[in-house]
Amino acid sequence: MKSPRTREADYLVIGCGVAGLRAAIELAGAGKVLVLSKAELTESATQYAQGGIAAALSDEDEIALHYQDTLQAGDSLCHQAAVKILVEEGPARIQELIEWGAAFDRNGTKLAFTREGAHSRSRILHAHGDSTGREITRALFARARASSIEFLPYMFTTELLLENGVVVGARLLDERQKTISEIRARALLLATGGLGQVYSETTNPSLATGDGVAIAYRAGAVLRDIEFVQFHPTALYCQGAPRFLLSEALRGEGACLRNVDLERFMPRYHEAADLAPRDVVSRALMMELLKTGAEFVYLDLTGLDPEHVRARFPRIYATCQEHNLDITADLLPVRPAAHYAMGGIATDLDGRTTLAGLFAAGEVACNGVHGANRLASNSLLEGLVYGARAGRAMAPSQAPAKVSGREEKNKVGKSSSRVAANPGPSGSNDPLPADGARRVAQIREVMWQKVGIIRSAESLQAALDILARLAPPLPSSPGRTQYEQSNLHIVAEVIARCALAREESRGAHYRSDFPCRDDERWGRYSRIALGQPVTFE
Ligand code: SIN
Repeated sequence: MKSPRTREADYLVIGCGVAGLRAAIELAGAGKVLVLSKAELTESATQYAQGGIAAALSDEDEIALHYQDTLQAGDSLCHQAAVKILVEEGPARIQELIEWGAAFDRNGTKLAFTREGAHSRSRILHAHGDSTGREITRALFARARASSIEFLPYMFTTELLLENGVVVGARLLDERQKTISEIRARALLLATGGLGQVYSETTNPSLATGDGVAIAYRAGAVLRDIEFVQFHPTALYCQGAPRFLLSEALRGEGACLRNVDLERFMPRYHEAADLAPRDVVSRALMMELLKTGAEFVYLDLTGLDPEHVRARFPRIYATCQEHNLDITADLLPVRPAAHYAMGGIATDLDGRTTLAGLFAAGEVACNGVHGANRLASNSLLEGLVYGARAGRAMAPSQAPAKVSGREEKNKVGKSSSRVAANPGPSGSNDPLPADGARRVAQIREVMWQKVGIIRSAESLQAALDILARLAPPLPSSPGRTQYEQSNLHIVAEVIARCALAREESRGAHYRSDFPCRDDERWGRYSRIALGQPVTFE
């Protein structure tokens, strides 16, 4: 077989969201930097982030309060050193972003802050009302493009290249040219974002197929806390339409939740009512759905000043109008949807994974900063802070991580040169693409029904049994879609396995058969690697 075309770079960054861009900017002076995206360069989850970015920058705020709020929301599983770095370095990263041109909303000359769930202060910066991610992406791209960074869109990473247990590059599918190539680099960063598409109901864009997690797992990297998936309580529920996010900032500005009997139910569940931590609100909402038999509850903004609402949330206003809903006058049908992965590829505080040469940052990574439940608007901040740190650590590339003070062993074979193989063609007859699509629809539904907001040993075991029969077949010349389908299956299985192993309820992981938190037994991170059982450390 003809060997694939090979290119060389010093640093390879896979993913164009906030973490990837911020890392690339950090690396720009250190050598040749290539940044890849599997779709349009600007297409990432960052682009869709509405609510904002949290940082203790207002006169009434303190870094210590942001620290406390993050730990509290994380339900006693946050890595405290990671949180400390996040809240301490966050303000400087945001100031820098402002210097690079990011225009956050202001009241007069002062930055405007809003509130979101589980924050003890108004500390959420936003841009163009509800297009914060878009503005951050714009500013980062402008900065990156002013340097020598090279961008390659529509390049899908099919696998990592390993030599003697060290990641030395990636194998790529060029979607437009329909060719396979390889890029070799001194260090590689996975910043591929989330995995929400593993669920049938998600706020994530269609590209959030867990590729980075699946690729790293296949290569032998350790995953951590992958059972913790955050469900956002307020995704717009319109039948047949994707679940459009209705930002938590709406509740920060005074919106409230009502069940179908129009009762404000959140005060019954938590003293912070509609601004309780996200996991609490999603579970409460689920309980109301079970109790009333309804498909949705309502988000009610009708008590707010309509002019303010239209100006503050222009994108949400326009999108809801497309569904014939006026957010200033109508009750908005909402239900929870998968939103964010707290877990991911295990890293240390500089993005080093357990594989030498491989780094990870942003949603695909897990350094423990979010614990069992991420505090609202800490994700863009994480991308900025830990993207920059990973960029700094990549040059020069170093040894594999000692992850979070708990040493991780590099489990990859020590010698041979190899490609971290994709599952590969599954049989002599190429399956019809529709078969893969049908299986993925089943996987996503099984995950929603059995590995969702409320789980049990019974539901999780049933999910695993079904998943074992649903591996989407890979044709002999797979395209991006088939690779994504395979990645979704891998990710679904590891989430279900780790969720089954954690016999307690904590943060976003709620087990109806183990409804209490058990710090003594389970106040630890889960860990899973290819061919190994789930362990806790
Ligand atoms: C939102 O705007 O509600 C999402 C913000 C986040 O995920 O933190």
